[in-house]
Amino acid sequence: MESLLPAAGFLYWVGAGTVAYLALRISYSLFTAFRVWGVGNEAGVGPGLGEWAVVTGSTDGIGKSYAEELAKRGMKVVLISRSQDKLNQVSSEIKEKFKVETRTIAVDFASEDIYDKIKTGLAGLEIGVLVNNVGMSYEYPEYFLDIPDLDNTIKKLINVNILSVCKMTRLVLPRMVERSKGVILNISSASGVLPVPLLTIYSATKAFVDFFSQCLHEEYKSKGIFVQSVLPYYVATKLAKIRKPTFDKPSSETFVKSAIKTVGLQSRTNGYPIHSLTSSISSILPSWIYFKIAMGLNKSTRARYLKKTKKN
Ligand SMILES: NC(=O)c1ccc[n+]([C@@H]2O[C@H](COP(=O)([O-])OP(=O)(O)OC[C@H]3O[C@@H](n4cnc5c(N)ncnc54)[C@H](OP(=O)(O)O)[C@@H]3O)[C@@H](O)[C@H]2O)c1
Repeated sequence: MESLLPAAGFLYWVGAGTVAYLALRISYSLFTAFRVWGVGNEAGVGPGLGEWAVVTGSTDGIGKSYAEELAKRGMKVVLISRSQDKLNQVSSEIKEKFKVETRTIAVDFASEDIYDKIKTGLAGLEIGVLVNNVGMSYEYPEYFLDIPDLDNTIKKLINVNILSVCKMTRLVLPRMVERSKGVILNISSASGVLPVPLLTIYSATKAFVDFFSQCLHEEYKSKGIFVQSVLPYYVATKLAKIRKPTFDKPSSETFVKSAIKTVGLQSRTNGYPIHSLTSSISSILPSWIYFKIAMGLNKSTRARYLKKTKKN
C-alpha cells in the first residue's frame, strides 16, 4: 500500500503538468487568434512601403479585390491580366473610385516570353507590394491521365501557377532589397497544404507556391521584406465556380479585407477566420479519413460535371 503512494503522487504531477500545458497552449492559441482576427494589422500594407503595388490576375476575383484594397489604402496600382478590355475597365473603376494612378499590362501568363514586356512596364516604379495572385485550375476534377489536352494543361498550370510567381519575384525583389522594404503576397491555396486528389497538378503547384513563399520569407525577412503565403479555402469567384458568397465561402472583397490585416502578423495565413478554423480541424484528421472525404467529394463533382456536359 505504502509503495503505491509515490506512484500516485507522480501520476498526480504528470496529470497536473499536462492540464497546465494544455491550458497554456489553448490560451496562447486564443490570444493569437484574437490578435490576428480580432485586432489585425491594419497599418501593415500601404504607400509607406513604396508608391506602387503590382497585382497579377487583377481583373476579377481575389486579384481585383487586392487591387481595390491597395488603391483604397492610397497605393498606385499596376494591373496585369490577359484582356486589355477588362484591364481598361478595372483601371477606370479604380481611378474613379480611389483617385490613384494605375497602369495596365496585358499578358498571358501561360506563355514564357512575356517577362521582358512586364519588365519594361514596371521600369522606374517604386514597388512596395507585389501580389502574385494569378492562378488557374482544372475545368472539373479529373484523374491525371484523363485530363483533357493533358500536355498543354500541364504546361499552362506550371507556367501560370509556378513560373509567374518565380519570375515576378525575380523582377520586383531586387529593388525591394535595395530599399530594405517590401511585401510579397503569394496566393497559394489550402489545397497546397493538404493534397487534393483529382486536382493533382493544381494542388501540387500550390504546394510549390507555399514552400517557395516560406523559404523566401526566411531568406529575406532580415532584409526588411515580408513574404506571405496565403492559403484560402473556397472564395466565391469564377475560378471556384461559386457565385453566391456564404459564411464559409466569402466574397473576394470580404476575404481580402480579412487577409490583408494578417500581413506582418502571419507569414502563412488562411486569410479568413472560418478558413483558419477549417484548417485546424482538417489537420487533426487521420490522413486516410481526409483522403476518403476529399476523393469522395471530388468524385461526385466530377460525375455531376460529366453528366451535365454529357461526356460519359
Ligand atoms: N477562388 C477560390 O476558391 C480560391 C481558393 C484558393 C486559392 N485561390 C487562388 O486565388 C488566385 C485567384 O483566384 P480567383 O478565384 O480570384 O480567380 P478568378 O476569379 O478566375 O480570377 C483570375 C484572374 O486572373 C486572370 N487570369 C487568368 N488566367 C490568366 C492568364 N493566363 N494570364 C493572365 N491573367 C490571367 C483573370 O483575368 P483575364 O481572364 O482577363 O486574364 C482574372 O483577373 C488563384 O491563384 C487561385 O488559385 C482561389
